[in-house]
Amino acid sequence: MTFGGAWGVCYAANLWSRVASRVLWKVADFVYRSEDEVYAAAKAVNWPALFGVERTLRVNVTAQKSPLRSLEFATLRIKDAVSDRFRDACGRRPDVERANPDVRVHAFLEASRGTLYLDTSGEPLFKRGWRKDSGDAPLRENLAAGIVMLTGWQPGEPFLDPMCGGGTLLVEAAAMARGRAPGANRSFGFEKLSWFDAATWERIRQERRMPEHSPTLFGSDSDPRALDAARRHLAAAGVERWVKVEQADILERDAPGAAGVMVANPPYGERMGSEEELARFYPKLGDALKKKFAGWRCFFFTADLRLPKLIRLEPSRRTPLWNGALECRLYEFKMVAGTNR
Ligand SMILES: C[S@@+](CC[C@H](N)C(=O)[O-])C[C@H]1O[C@@H](n2cnc3c(N)ncnc32)[C@H](O)[C@@H]1O
Repeated sequence: MTFGGAWGVCYAANLWSRVASRVLWKVADFVYRSEDEVYAAAKAVNWPALFGVERTLRVNVTAQKSPLRSLEFATLRIKDAVSDRFRDACGRRPDVERANPDVRVHAFLEASRGTLYLDTSGEPLFKRGWRKDSGDAPLRENLAAGIVMLTGWQPGEPFLDPMCGGGTLLVEAAAMARGRAPGANRSFGFEKLSWFDAATWERIRQERRMPEHSPTLFGSDSDPRALDAARRHLAAAGVERWVKVEQADILERDAPGAAGVMVANPPYGERMGSEEELARFYPKLGDALKKKFAGWRCFFFTADLRLPKLIRLEPSRRTPLWNGALECRLYEFKMVAGTNR
């Protein structure tokens, strides 16, 4: 998605987007056939006007149908172009830093066109600042937020994640309902760029843009270690007050209310064990939902495209989504007593 506007729009997009991974600022667009032409295009950008030589730098290259043989070499040439531009301007070169650079340059190379971007986000935006450990296969925060939005959940209705793991969906749903900016507790790449305007940034940080609701959220998991992680994360995100967490098997627990939205991200692949195990589990899950969740809209996010067949319920909606490189679906089942089968 592309957009334009004053720098304040860029600050606000970084602070408020729950679903974006990064906000990139386009600094060059060029046609190329060789590494030398990529170097020339990168050197034509006035980098010393964009950030100071004391900033550490990292260059990332992504290519699709590029004729260049080595992306590593293309990366090196772009880094050289940026460094040479600094050397020409001030006699010094910025240091390269892979792990935690101040400034990130992204290059996208297609068959004959290339684009250079300065990364205004820094660390990817799914890093909200509340997760200290990566835990057991958590959803990325921006994917979890997107899933919650796709369910159409409104803060006035109960929300349940009965396979909550580290609680990503619960944290994101609660933060949304509380009107919290997802980036309130982190820093951004734009703070390291020359045109950074601290006064505008402070004003945007202070603005309240979203209404504050008092939601009712519920989380459960059969694994007590997952619940410990969920509690830690909810507390770190400052939303534990709105979420009730308990140990329960999804096949046995009751619905916390007469109607609401249930969202689960069941284990998938090796971690769930054999295919037979899944084939035994899903029909029971379908039966449990019919028995206990009449009146609820139940969503499952999974890479297992056999789920509707195994659960023996007809989805009212299937939304294709990508979890990294893994093709997934968000299935919706509207649970109405006595129907669906
Ligand atoms: C893929 S993980 C969920 C990850 C979570 N969405 C997150 O972002 O952290 C699946 C979770 O389902 C839980 N689980 C597996 N079988 C269950 C069952 N029968 N009842 C409740 N939870 C179960 C596992 O303990 C695990 O925490």
